[in-house]
Amino acid sequence: MESSLTEKEAALIRESIKDKYSQVAATGAASCFKYPTGAEGLKQQNYPLDLLRDFPPALIDSFCGVGNPFSLGPIHPGDAVLDIGCGAGLDTLLAARMAGPEGRVAGIDVTQAMIDKARASLSILGLQNVIFQVAEAESLPFPDNDFDAVISNGVFNLTLDKEKALKEAHRVLKPGGRLLLADMVLVAALPPDQAGRIENWYQ
Ligand SMILES: C[S@@+](CC[C@H](N)C(=O)[O-])C[C@H]1O[C@@H](n2cnc3c(N)ncnc32)[C@H](O)[C@@H]1O
Repeated sequence: MESSLTEKEAALIRESIKDKYSQVAATGAASCFKYPTGAEGLKQQNYPLDLLRDFPPALIDSFCGVGNPFSLGPIHPGDAVLDIGCGAGLDTLLAARMAGPEGRVAGIDVTQAMIDKARASLSILGLQNVIFQVAEAESLPFPDNDFDAVISNGVFNLTLDKEKALKEAHRVLKPGGRLLLADMVLVAALPPDQAGRIENWYQ
């Protein structure tokens, strides 16, 4: 996908994504999206609300996933899990609850403000088995065969090179590991007046 964009367009999309998600980190998700986010999004996506009871309000309010990766299969006690495009970290921290103290969980995101927010929630919850790190889906800072499960929610549609991002997810998964991916896809052509708009990538 990246090859069809000029370098200038790719740089504009990268910067715009960081701007948009810095705003989500600052204000919460409610005013930033056309789909249900925060507590309403979690309810509509059938998240296990009992496991989120003590999650800080700022963490809940910043949830902007488009689906529920956990509906695709379980996280087992002891699993190593990577959340690609973790945002403020709700899915990461939920995965840590599910993996338990014997498991380990990492969340990565390109937006520094999201990672800062995720770390703040991590310190409130006091979980010991979680790290958050600024990184790109297209270049994961982990060795081959490192994770039992990779989760991701509403992120691959934003990546500039989707093939590279999927290959990276595959690379870091152990043999037999699972990719639990929730995302949006375009099911019909956009109207001609909108089809060429760079803003469609991230709005
Ligand atoms: C729709 S939000 C979803 C956040 C989180 N998964 C959730 O469910 O609340 C998309 C996130 O993907 C991040 N993102 C966008 N492109 C990325 C990339 N190439 N690599 C890593 N993260 C990316 C954004 O910074 C943003 O936090």
